[in-house]
Amino acid sequence: MFNKLILQKSMRIFIIGFMGSGKTTVAKKLAPRLKLSFYDLDKLIEERYNKSIDTIFEDKGEESFRKKENLMLTEISSSDNFILSTGGGLPCFYDNMNMMNSKGKTVYLRMSPLALFSRLKNSKAHRPLIKNLDDGQLKLFIEKKLEEREPYYLRASVIIDALNVDYKRLISEIEKLSK
Ligand code: S3P
Repeated sequence: MFNKLILQKSMRIFIIGFMGSGKTTVAKKLAPRLKLSFYDLDKLIEERYNKSIDTIFEDKGEESFRKKENLMLTEISSSDNFILSTGGGLPCFYDNMNMMNSKGKTVYLRMSPLALFSRLKNSKAHRPLIKNLDDGQLKLFIEKKLEEREPYYLRASVIIDALNVDYKRLISEIEKLSK
C-alpha cells in the first residue's frame, strides 16, 4: 500500500506517435486503470489560446505552434499523476523527447504507413499539415514524415503495436518501469 502511494505520486505518462495512431483513445483508456488524470496537449493549447490548432497554424505558422507546444509540455510536466496524449510532431521539436523521458515514461504507439494512411485519409480536415493533400500526396507525406520522426519516437520507454493494444500487458510494463 505504502509502495503504491509512492509510485502513484510521481507517475507521468506521455503517449507519443504519428497523427492518427490512436494516442488519445489509448490514453483515455489507460487513465482510469492507472488512476491518473487524462490530458490532451492539443486540447490544452486550444483552451489556453482560445483558438483551434488549425487557426494557430493559419494565423501564426508552425513555428509559433511548436513554441506553444513546448511551453505547454514544460508546464504540464511540472505536475504529477497524469497521462498525456501529445501531438504527433511534439517529440521531434526542441528538447521535448528528453524532457518527457526525464520527467516520466513515454509510450510510442507504432503503426505502419499503410495503416496510418487508411486512418488519416478520412480525418484530415482539422489537421493543418495534411488537410490540403490528396490521397497520393498524403501517402508520400506519411512515409517521409514517419521516417523523419521515428528516430525520436523510438527513444520511447515502451513501444507497442498500435493496432493490437494489449492493455493488461502495457499497464504491467508501465508499472514495472515506474517502480
Ligand atoms: C501534428 C499533429 C497534431 C497536432 C498538429 C501537428 C503533427 O496532433 O499537434 O496538427 O505535427 O504531427 P495529432 O497527432 O493528435 O493529430
